[in-house]
Amino acid sequence: MVRGSMIAARVLENVTVSETMRLLVLEPMEPMDTPGPMQFYMVWLPGLEEVPMSAAGYEDGRIHILVKPRGPTTRTLAGSRPGSLVGLRGPFGRPFQPRGRVLGIAGGSGVAPFIYMARLLGPRLTVVYGARAASEVGSVPRLLEAHGAHVLVATEDGSVGYRGTSVDLALEVLGSEGPDHVVAAGPPAMLLALGRALEALGVELWVSVETMVKCGVGACGSCTLPGTPFLLCLEGPVFRYRDTLGWLREAAGEV
Ligand SMILES: Cc1cc2nc3c(=O)[nH]c(=O)nc-3n(C[C@H](O)[C@H](O)[C@H](O)COP(=O)(O)OP(=O)(O)OC[C@H]3O[C@@H](n4cnc5c(N)ncnc54)[C@H](O)[C@@H]3O)c2cc1C
Ligand code: FES
Repeated sequence: MVRGSMIAARVLENVTVSETMRLLVLEPMEPMDTPGPMQFYMVWLPGLEEVPMSAAGYEDGRIHILVKPRGPTTRTLAGSRPGSLVGLRGPFGRPFQPRGRVLGIAGGSGVAPFIYMARLLGPRLTVVYGARAASEVGSVPRLLEAHGAHVLVATEDGSVGYRGTSVDLALEVLGSEGPDHVVAAGPPAMLLALGRALEALGVELWVSVETMVKCGVGACGSCTLPGTPFLLCLEGPVFRYRDTLGWLREAAGEV
């Protein structure tokens, strides 16, 4: 099967994870390649757009995605009923294959690839998950812990876990653990704050970023990471923090 070709997939389950996120289990009608950590699929809804979604799980050929509604396509996807059909292409991007102990720092739907990574790394992975309040956290910790990963939650209002941001909590964890890799996914402002704090400590950070993905196969150039020659769909979505700095500053509204 050519990776760029579209396969029809049936929505088997649509489960509420938190006030803001749904977990969908998709069953492709033809076999698709097993995703690597941090890879993503293009999900097409008839009559709407095709949008990138990280692999949040893979089991018996079924693909799990975690959807946070943002615009028309993600809103409709989050509300899709079991039995409905979507189009799937992928997996795309370069697998991020960390060795040793990994610290993952996530905000919002940025936690999706860590749910899959937890399945692959088990107790080698610690995830710091940041949200505004308990209602946004929901069952995210259970999804990560199901595969043996360690989970620490930070909420800005202190309604569950540590009171503060994921960046504050990650800095505390780094002080007590010595991970071999630190990788983060979430809103640009969070990634910038984390990158700056870790740079001051001399800790290398890898970040998963979002640019505009269209073809997914390196043909259209729409996913170029601004200021670099890198294509997200081929070389990403995980990059060294310093390569993403210009894009993150722009996406966070700093420039
Ligand atoms: C590699 C990657 C993995 C992602 N994984 C997830 C995930 O696991 N769960 C999740 O909920 N979201 C994920 N996203 C974000 C998701 O793709 C966007 O929220 C979605 O495309 C928005 O589409 P929309 O039509 O609902 O909203 P729109 O109103 O069309 O867009 C809302 C915002 O989403 C972004 N966006 C729109 N279209 C695209 C596109 N084709 N490519 C990239 N960004 C776009 C833009 O910043 C836009 O301003 C991922 C994005 C990337 C690049
Ligand atoms: S999405 Fe077309 S080159 Fe990456």
